[in-house]
Amino acid sequence: MKILGTGSSLPTMQVSNDDLSKFLDTNDEWIFPRTGIKSRHIISSEKLEDLALDAARKALDNAGVDAGELDMLICSNVVNEFITPSLSCIVASKLGISCPCFDINCACPGFIYAMDMADSYFRSGKVKKVLIVCAEEPTRMIDWSDRSTCVLFGDGAGAAVFGEGDNLRGTRLSAQPDPDKLYEIHKLQPTPYITKEEADVPLVMKGREVFKFAVTTSSRDITDILAETGITPDQVSYYMIHQANLRIIDGIREHLGVAPEKFPTNIRDHGNSSSASCPILLDECNKAGMFKKGDILVFSAFGAGLLSATAVLEW
Ligand code: UT7
Repeated sequence: MKILGTGSSLPTMQVSNDDLSKFLDTNDEWIFPRTGIKSRHIISSEKLEDLALDAARKALDNAGVDAGELDMLICSNVVNEFITPSLSCIVASKLGISCPCFDINCACPGFIYAMDMADSYFRSGKVKKVLIVCAEEPTRMIDWSDRSTCVLFGDGAGAAVFGEGDNLRGTRLSAQPDPDKLYEIHKLQPTPYITKEEADVPLVMKGREVFKFAVTTSSRDITDILAETGITPDQVSYYMIHQANLRIIDGIREHLGVAPEKFPTNIRDHGNSSSASCPILLDECNKAGMFKKGDILVFSAFGAGLLSATAVLEW
C-alpha cells in the first residue's frame, strides 16, 4: 500500500506549563527539561468524534479521495465517551459511508498496528482504499492532581488515506505484556450478581520503567527492521518517533547515531497524544512540504501493553 493523503485535528484550547503550575505543584523548569513539552492541546468544548471526523475529512481532501471510495475504516483509540458503537462507526456515520469499520486499542503504537492490518487486507486483494484515523483524549484518563502523569499528555486526531502500492516496505509488531506498568481501570455498570469491590482507577504509569522499555525496544525494532529491509540508517529520510518524551527520542537517536535533523518533533506544543501522535506529526511534516517522492520514513511507537511497533514506508 501507499499513502495518498494525511490530515489532523487538534482541540482549540492550548494549555502551557505555566497554566498548569497555577493549580498543580509543578513548573516549566521541571517539565520542559525532562520532557521537551511546553504546552499541549486539551479537549474542552469539543467531542473526540468531531476531531476524528475533521482529521478524516482533511486526509480524504489531501488524498483527493471521495469518502464513498473507501473499502475500510480503521480507528485507533484507547478511550472515548462511547463504549459502543465503535468510534469508527460514529465517524463512518458522519462521513455517510457504509464500508466495514472497526476500532483497535493498541495504545500509542496504534497507527503502526493499524497500518500493519491494512497492509494484510491490501495484500489479500480485499481493499483498494483504506482510511486510518487515530483519535485520542488521554487528558480524560488521567488524575489531574497527579503531577507525574497529567503534565505529559495532550489530545488530538491524525488520519491517513492509503491506496494500492508497494511503499510499505516492512512492519514489525511486538508485545512484552506487563499490564502493571501503564493502565487505567474503568468501572462497569453494577449487576445484582457482582459482589467484588470495584473502583475507577485513573491512569497509573511507572514512568522510569516505561522510559527504559521505550528506548530499548524502539532502538532494537528500528535496527532490526532496517536490517530486514536492507536499508541503512543514513538512507532513512526521517524517523517519525512517537512523541512521548524528547529524552526518549534523543535516546533512540543517539543509539542509532543519526543526525537530529532526521528526527522531526512536535512534542513541544502537543505533549503525548497516544496513537494520534505519529499521524499528527506525519501530517504536520507533510503540510510543511518536508517529504518528496521516494523518501524513506521509519515509524516507531511504544506504550501501554507494553506494546511496540515499527514500520518502514516509502513516501
Ligand atoms: O506514551 C508512552 C508512555 N509514556 C512514556 O513514554 C513516559 C515515559 N517516562 C517518562 O517520560 C519519565 O519517566 C517521566 C517524565 C514520566 C518522569 O521523569 P523522571 O525523570 O523519571 O522523574 P521521576 O518520576 O523519577 O520523578 C523525579 C522527581 C520526583 O520527586 P522526588 O521523589 O525525587 O522528590 C517526583 O515527585 O520529580 C517529581 N515530579 C515532579 N516535580 C515537578 C514528578 N512529576 C513532577 C512534576 N513537577 N510534574
